[in-house]
Amino acid sequence: MNKIRNFLPEQYDMDQLYSIKHNYLSEQFSDYKNIFEKIENVVLNNDFTLGREVDEFEQNISSMIGSKYCIAVGSGTDAIRLSLLALGIKSEDEVITTPYTFHATVGAIATAGAKPVFVDCDEDFNIDVEKIRAAITEKTKAIVPVHWAGRPVDPQSFQKISSEFSIPIVEDACHAILASRSGINAGTIGQIGCFSLHPLKNLNAWGDGGFICTDDKAIEEKLRLMRNHGLESRDSCVLFGYNSRLDTLQAVVANHLLLKLPNLTKKRIKNAHMLDKMLGKIKQISLPLRSKEINEVFHLYCFQAKNRDELVEFLISNGIDAKKHYPIPMHLQKAATYLGYKKGDFPIAERLADSTISLPVHEFVSPEQIEKMGNLVRSFYYG
Ligand SMILES: Cc1ncc(COP(=O)(O)O)c(C=O)c1O
Repeated sequence: MNKIRNFLPEQYDMDQLYSIKHNYLSEQFSDYKNIFEKIENVVLNNDFTLGREVDEFEQNISSMIGSKYCIAVGSGTDAIRLSLLALGIKSEDEVITTPYTFHATVGAIATAGAKPVFVDCDEDFNIDVEKIRAAITEKTKAIVPVHWAGRPVDPQSFQKISSEFSIPIVEDACHAILASRSGINAGTIGQIGCFSLHPLKNLNAWGDGGFICTDDKAIEEKLRLMRNHGLESRDSCVLFGYNSRLDTLQAVVANHLLLKLPNLTKKRIKNAHMLDKMLGKIKQISLPLRSKEINEVFHLYCFQAKNRDELVEFLISNGIDAKKHYPIPMHLQKAATYLGYKKGDFPIAERLADSTISLPVHEFVSPEQIEKMGNLVRSFYYG
C-alpha cells in the first residue's frame, strides 16, 4: 500500500544511478538562484494564484505556438480532460485515440466520462489515420491523436477527417512542444492542442503543470471559467467547474525556461540525428522514417529493436538509462478491462510495446555519450 502511495522518489533515486540519464533536472536548473529571485517577487507582490506570471506565460506560449489563445492549467492530463469537457463530451460519448500512449491520454478521456475507443497505430508510432474511419460511429465526439515522442501526426489527413465527419481533433501534444509537420505546429492542427509541463517534458517546470492552445473564442472562455471554479468574478459563478490553475510558481519556472527552449530543442534534434546515423546502419534496428516535412522534437528517442528486453538489460548494465516507453499498450492494461479488448486487437501497438526502446538524447547528453550509446548497441548485436 505504501508503495502505491508514493513510489516516485524511489524511481527518481534509481534514475541517478546511471551515467547517461533520462532525468536531468538538476543540470537543467543549475541556474535555479535566478528563478528564486523571480519567486521572491511573487511573494512580495502577493501574487499567489494565476496573476502576472501566468498571464505572461500564456502570452509567451500563444506567440511561440501560433495559437490565438492559451489557457494554463494544472497538468497535461487536465488539459485533455477539461478540453473534452469544454466540447460538451458526456457519458455514452466515444472518443477515439491510440492504444500506444501514456496512461494519461486514456485517463483523461475516461475521467471526462467518455468511452475510449482505440485505433491501431502505424509503424511510426502514431495512430493510423486511415483506420480511424472504420471506428467512427454516431457516438464519436472527438479524436485525440498523440504526437508520440514529439513526432507530429500528418496535419492534412487529420484536418480532412475532422471536417468530413464534423468531429473535433483534440491533440495530445504533451510530447511535442515546438514540433511541426508540413509547416503546421503541433497543438494547432485541430481545434484544441494540449501540452504538459511535467518535470520530464521538453519544457518542464518543478512540478505539475499544463496548458491548452486554441483559436476558438467560445472554447477559450469556457476553459478559463472551468479551470477556476467557473468564476467570472470573486462572487459570481457561471458554471460549476474545477480548480486546475497553473501554479504561479511553476509559471515562473516555465517562463524562465521558455527563453531557452528553442536552443534546448535544437540540441535534442542534433543528438537524435547523430544517433540515427549510428543506429541506422544496424539491421536489427528499425528507426521511424525521417523526413524533412516532419520536424520532430524527440521528447523521447524511440526505435524498435530485435531482442529488445536483452538489449535494455545490456545497456542498463553499462550505465545507460535505456527505457521501455511503454511495455503494456493501453487496451491490455487492467484499467481497460471494462472496455472488452483483448490481446491481438491492435497488433502494431502490441508489437511496438514489445520491441520499442528509448535512449536519452536531451541537451545534457554529449556527443561522446551519443557515440558510446551507438557503439554499445552495435556491440550488443555484433560483439
Ligand atoms: C502522451 C502523454 N499525454 C499526457 C500526459 C499527461 O501529462 P501530465 O503528466 O502533465 O498530466 C503525458 C505525461 O505525462 C504524456 O506522456
